[in-house]
Amino acid sequence: ATDLTGRHFLKELDFTAEEFRSLLDLAAELKAAKRAGTEERRLRGRNIALIFEKSSTRTRCAFEVAAADQGASTTYLDPAGSHIGKKESARDTARVLGRMFDAIEFRGDAQATVEELAAHAGVPVYNGLTDDWHPTQMLADVLTMTEHTDKPLETIAFAYLGDGRYNMGNSYLVTGALLGMDVRIVAPRSYWPADGVVARARELAETSGARVTLTEDIAEGVRGADFVATDVWVSMGEPQEVWDERIGALAPYAVTMDVLRATGNPDVRFLHCLPAFHDLGTAVGREIHERHGLTELEVSDEVFESEHSVVFDEAENRLHTIKAVMVATLAGPGGAA
Ligand code: CP
Ligand code: NVA
Repeated sequence: ATDLTGRHFLKELDFTAEEFRSLLDLAAELKAAKRAGTEERRLRGRNIALIFEKSSTRTRCAFEVAAADQGASTTYLDPAGSHIGKKESARDTARVLGRMFDAIEFRGDAQATVEELAAHAGVPVYNGLTDDWHPTQMLADVLTMTEHTDKPLETIAFAYLGDGRYNMGNSYLVTGALLGMDVRIVAPRSYWPADGVVARARELAETSGARVTLTEDIAEGVRGADFVATDVWVSMGEPQEVWDERIGALAPYAVTMDVLRATGNPDVRFLHCLPAFHDLGTAVGREIHERHGLTELEVSDEVFESEHSVVFDEAENRLHTIKAVMVATLAGPGGAA
């Protein structure tokens, strides 16, 4: 068995492929146990701090429900209601929370902040999304992929279309490379992940056997894909003004039925970490509609609502996979699968 007791989860590359896979196995076990009503509460008496410098629906709820299912308690901290990042440094915050809590989740802009917390907390720290990485999301996405195909993990092909320079693009690239998958980033060249991230992915691919592709060509990029994924074109914390540039550059990469057809795979599945701009029925969406006249952005409503879409399975899997991370790192030996 893989023992992950006491480990941080700051980025995908904190784990070996074997360790990453053990978390997927544990998540599948925990999911089945919850469904069967046989879940054991392995985190009784544990206390988890949840720091959110940015908004969240799925990640926050996944941590809170997962902790409750396992008998642990959570405390939610946001910048408005705590001193974090204003009156108190991440280092001091880490040393305080480390005395009270058994683990700390952090969501915010800078990867450096979550690394700083981890360096000083003395307890496991989990990255709930930074500008650079979204590692807990990767566990949910890969679990969802394994549930929607019979293929072995290392034969799965997936294509990510959109802004590849941010958390989701980076995370997909290194996760696919780590696990030996066929991973394609399909975007204008200026939207590809940074050279350092690509280099790391290529290096991993040499040992994992992954196929790593970066291309501007949609037909080439999606051909034969089992999964097509995308993300919002403007991420949290970015100024509204960048919409103009993003829409101009990324509109051809919107996931439409034509893109799914171009895979040549009638069973292709669609993934999106959510929230998604597929109908612009939100306040931000209406503003974009007024300014740009568009009704759909990174994914068409037709794709989002189609039988190809597995986005709500993916969202549910945030719960089971985040639970697996907490159980594996906190429940002690035997906690992991
Ligand atoms: N996918 C995701 O991280 O969603 P939230 O921003 O709602 O947590
Ligand atoms: N790239 C998006 C992901 C949201 C879950 C963001 O950072 O806002």
